[in-house]
Amino acid sequence: MTSSTNLIDGRAIAAQLLAELAPRVAALKARGVEPGLAFVRVGEDPASKVYVGRKEKACAELGIRSETHVLPEMALEVELLALLQRLNADARWHGILVQFPLPRHIRPAAVSAAVAPHKDVDGFHPLNMGRLLLGEPGGFEPCTPAGIRELLVRSNVPLDGAEVVILGRGNIVGKPLAAMLCQKAPHANATVTLCHSATRDLKGHCRRADVLVAAMGVPEFVKADMVKPGAVVIDVGVNRVPDPAARGGSRLVGDVNFAAVQPIAGKITPNPGGVGPMTIAMLLRNTVRAAELAAGLQ
Ligand code: GUN
Repeated sequence: MTSSTNLIDGRAIAAQLLAELAPRVAALKARGVEPGLAFVRVGEDPASKVYVGRKEKACAELGIRSETHVLPEMALEVELLALLQRLNADARWHGILVQFPLPRHIRPAAVSAAVAPHKDVDGFHPLNMGRLLLGEPGGFEPCTPAGIRELLVRSNVPLDGAEVVILGRGNIVGKPLAAMLCQKAPHANATVTLCHSATRDLKGHCRRADVLVAAMGVPEFVKADMVKPGAVVIDVGVNRVPDPAARGGSRLVGDVNFAAVQPIAGKITPNPGGVGPMTIAMLLRNTVRAAELAAGLQ
């Protein structure tokens, strides 16, 4: 299949999600509550600047107030933690997001634990991660894994009993996605295999997958011979690779060799235009929910 008919359109599904959020934002505003999301960036990582910029724009479009705090690259961890304490105590902000990656001298776990759990719209606080692992309702789910599940569900991909293979055990995508999809619950109940750099016979695992999620950050790692014909392929990767022919001397590629894999995949996310917009939509959904909880609407 070489047509675009097997594409999972993340932009369209994200737009649908945002349309569902609009009346909830209106209901909050009718009660005098303006949902607010505070962003924190440390240093000048170019990709992080782009990501936070996109999230700010999405907030503005939905009517969520946002504010971005930028700390210098050399800021101390205690300075970041002090800023988070101030944001935790400020009722204007229903959600707080610290963009990762952070400079090496700042411990990501200390930062995630310093965001108040009820404002943790990234879902990275140990309480929210713990709720996710235990299958307890009420927490915030990390945005990229939640967006991937939403893409699958809204594309009618069966998950109950499906073989899901995830490449990459990171805390932002692989680990929480595995926890989410293995729950005995609707839109889950999959047999999940979490592969990583020490996995033996990686290709063998991949070829068994009904749903293959590539989230390990290796440019175009997934090739055609790693995919079972008809499998659903989700590409989470965003990798900048040198390309003398491209403007600026580099271009972005995913973790999947799209041109090779699309013809044999049952469904596949384009990249860009697949997972990325969903991450943002789920962030806004978490923020609206945080505001509703704060307003006693949930
Ligand atoms: N860096 C890459 N993905 C994410 C994300 O979902 N949230 C934050 N805060 N940083 C990220």
